[in-house]
Amino acid sequence: MIIINTRCINSQQYSLENLLNLCKLTDNIRNIASTSKGLKYLKTILSDKRAILYFKQASTRTFLSFQNACYILGISTSEIRDTSTSSEIKGETELDAIKTFSQYVDLIIMRHPSSEFIYEILDNLPNDMRIINAGSGTNEHPTQALLDFYTIWKYGLENKKVAFVGDLLRGRTVRSLSLLLNKVNETKLYFVSPDKFQIKDDILKQLNVEYEVTEDFEKVLPDMDVVYMVRLQDEYGGTNEIIDTTKYSINNSNINKMKDDAIILHPLPRRNEISVEIDKDKRAKYWQQCENGMWIRVALIMDMFGVEII
Ligand code: CP
Repeated sequence: MIIINTRCINSQQYSLENLLNLCKLTDNIRNIASTSKGLKYLKTILSDKRAILYFKQASTRTFLSFQNACYILGISTSEIRDTSTSSEIKGETELDAIKTFSQYVDLIIMRHPSSEFIYEILDNLPNDMRIINAGSGTNEHPTQALLDFYTIWKYGLENKKVAFVGDLLRGRTVRSLSLLLNKVNETKLYFVSPDKFQIKDDILKQLNVEYEVTEDFEKVLPDMDVVYMVRLQDEYGGTNEIIDTTKYSINNSNINKMKDDAIILHPLPRRNEISVEIDKDKRAKYWQQCENGMWIRVALIMDMFGVEII
């Protein structure tokens, strides 16, 4: 399936050049937004556009960062987060709901529990309807991957050893980010998890970069440049097991085994896989990562509408 740039659906659609351009655009936008005059200018850029945020799964960061990215660009937003207040409660199909949105808005930002529904709607909407996948089941979370990539880019992309740690079986952010980092030569990826929570083969089969699958976090930790923690994604079920966070967490007893210039990332929300006391460590970059999400989403939306900064 060819995905045109009016859609942000998956990681595979982006080339390394696209990613680097998006990172640079994000930095430019942040620079402009650092003054009141700049913020006022940004608000004029897409002030004739409207967006809907259709979120059928819980969200704090993705929802709010997209909503605020729209505000920054002057885009008016509407939202459906609780379908007991929409006509879906009267039996309207999700597809008809989406077709309805497309009568009113220029951009649909959607989070959905199904991995497939995002692809189903593509064939049912005109090509110029902008659509962003804000998380599709356990499969993809491309805009989280974009913000993660941007965060790593800010600390240097070259020759990085990146460990993904935690529930990789159902961690859509890990799936999406590993496919983006796969575009950067000399990256080495480590998938660190108990066997029952390991990344699925469909991702491993797509990797061209070197990778290692291991259960041994303490062994790899000292070599890593980026440690990307994820929580147990137990909202999806499929296993009653939990991950032993005495083995798969960052805390005061193991942080000093890390490189001094390593960075710790987490898509958030977290549970106990990163202790709160780690927040003060200079390597903890997950709150910056969270902020980066809003800015790269501004850049992404601008790019999807084909507008440039003047
Ligand atoms: N990282 C992320 O997707 O967070 P939310 O679920 O809060 O949107």
